[in-house]
Amino acid sequence: MQARRIAVMASGKGSNLRVILDAVRQGRCPVEVGLVLSDKADAGALAIARAAQVPRVCHLDPRDYADRAAFDAACADRIERAGCRWVVLAGYMRILSSSFVRRFAGRIVNIHPSLLPAFPGAHAVEDALAYGVKVSGCTVHLVDEVLDGGPILAQAVVPVRDDDDRASLHARIQREEHRLYPATLARMVTVGFDLDGRVVRWRDGA
Ligand code: GAR
Repeated sequence: MQARRIAVMASGKGSNLRVILDAVRQGRCPVEVGLVLSDKADAGALAIARAAQVPRVCHLDPRDYADRAAFDAACADRIERAGCRWVVLAGYMRILSSSFVRRFAGRIVNIHPSLLPAFPGAHAVEDALAYGVKVSGCTVHLVDEVLDGGPILAQAVVPVRDDDDRASLHARIQREEHRLYPATLARMVTVGFDLDGRVVRWRDGA
């Protein structure tokens, strides 16, 4: 297993994957993207990965497996075979089985489009608008067995405007995601952190 090698799992358009790959290429994020894996054949993330010549790019179809655990085990095998230490979720829209989470305990990172613990789940941006919050943002966190409930690595705040709709608020949040995710992955593999209960303590004290 390579200490700085990551596997990125993505289901969607892949803008977070794109900024991670850009940051790696520009020397701002000292990780190596060893594998990109998607559960969707038409995910933009797969095309982005191929264009960037990621060494292993793969689509696995959940319908080809008996259940969630079997699908996740196939993903986990690919990740281990690729020698990846970290699993980076970038718009991966499937809930991970507990066996997967235990297999990579403390090594799975996710980005979520709200200030957790507010608005977990698949509709965070809509839920924040419907609730009427005046600020929202994004959270980079470790994944444990509680949905969107793991220890928080980093957060960024954006204002919510009265005339926002889902698209405008999500676009503002994504601008922050694109700054925060590569920067947090870089800190993770250079500075490192310890866990004090569920509290992340960065080793540079910042
Ligand atoms: C991102 O906004 C990410 O926070 C969100 O999906 C989007 C993926 O965008 N993730 C979740 O909602 C996870 N619950 P991308 O495909 O352009 O990177």
